Amino acid sequence: TDALRNAAIDILKTNDRGRYTVPTKGLYPFQWNWDSCLTALGQCHFDENRAWTEIETLFAHQWPCGMVPHIIFHQMDDGYFPGPHIWGTDRPVPTSGITQPAVAGFALKRMLDCASDRQAVTDRLRALLPKVAAWHRWFFATRDPHDEGLVAILHPWEAGRDNSVDWDDPFDRVPTDGITPYTRRDTMHADPSHRPTKAQYDRYLWLVEHFRALRWDTSKLHDASPFQVVDPGFNAILFRSCADLADLAEDLGESGIAAENRSYAARGLAALEGLWSDAHGQYLCRDRVTGALIDSASVGGILAVFCAIPQARAARIAATIAGHGTRYCVASHSPHDPRFDAKRYWRGPVWLVVNYMIADGLARAGQQDAAAKISAASLALIGKSGFAEYYDPMTGEALGGGEFTWTAAMVLEFLA
Ligand code: DGY
Repeated sequence: TDALRNAAIDILKTNDRGRYTVPTKGLYPFQWNWDSCLTALGQCHFDENRAWTEIETLFAHQWPCGMVPHIIFHQMDDGYFPGPHIWGTDRPVPTSGITQPAVAGFALKRMLDCASDRQAVTDRLRALLPKVAAWHRWFFATRDPHDEGLVAILHPWEAGRDNSVDWDDPFDRVPTDGITPYTRRDTMHADPSHRPTKAQYDRYLWLVEHFRALRWDTSKLHDASPFQVVDPGFNAILFRSCADLADLAEDLGESGIAAENRSYAARGLAALEGLWSDAHGQYLCRDRVTGALIDSASVGGILAVFCAIPQARAARIAATIAGHGTRYCVASHSPHDPRFDAKRYWRGPVWLVVNYMIADGLARAGQQDAAAKISAASLALIGKSGFAEYYDPMTGEALGGGEFTWTAAMVLEFLA
């Protein structure tokens, strides 16, 4: 395990650009939001100061409205598409104009729990607290216009699960006409058959151009978007972060932030029940435009266990994962669904960050055995195929980019 640990640390150091870490060189040459927050958890195991800097850099680029963008383009790099000019967000340091799963609140609590000297990081935590709180407030203000307690994503890149089966039906509503001709770069770095399709990219781009035409006014995008999906995993990450931020705020005597975030988490948990599917033994996405649940058993509905769902639900989710019957868990889509694709990005492959959050949630819900199986499978994948971006759940084959930062960070957490 020492060799594994050192190999993971090496990757984090190689991808370190000083005040932020790139997910991997080539394919992803900038700072990504949830990659950074989860990367910090790995950095905590060998350089706590550097870990806090990772999160501080991210929040230094928060928008005045409260949104924390999904990419910060610190340094120009032609190897990635779509770059800053396509986004056109007009920020001092260019950023994208959409957000990503709000894992920062959870990460900060975990970082404080791991801190060798809690007192020493208190000032840094105190400075970050209102920023994370503003991000959470922004979510409910702009992505929950009917006060349901659940927030919508407006672009698949926001969920991070770019080409999930979940988005297939809602994507039918997204047009592609009028988009500026473009050249993809991702397929130069990774096998095109492991990446999203051109039809999906056309729609990713249409949404970006549509939002850009609205000048990235984040108060207008929700109602103007033909794509509005309530993703249980995305919401669960937000609710967990709200609950964790409330704990942190309470410790620091910030009772306003604590009460506000407790209320988001409690309302959200109650509303999440409306996404439960007994037939699938997991939660499902809801298409907010049609109001209907989306019949797609993806890992988004399993990831919901990351927040404090009822114990019986967690037990059922553990059984659903076991029922997948893949050699390596957790598949990002149910292998029992004909749309499952073992190698294509989020339509089947295993991702270590998702494994980590599911295992954490299961363990908190008393499902220790199921959690232990997931950590064992995760480490087995590394042993077999190295620190890949994602893996085939049947064969364990490495897929996507290599030397992947958040995969390495999660290994340090699994070994801890
Ligand atoms: C990509 O470009 O593949 C990313 O997932 C967008 O964040």
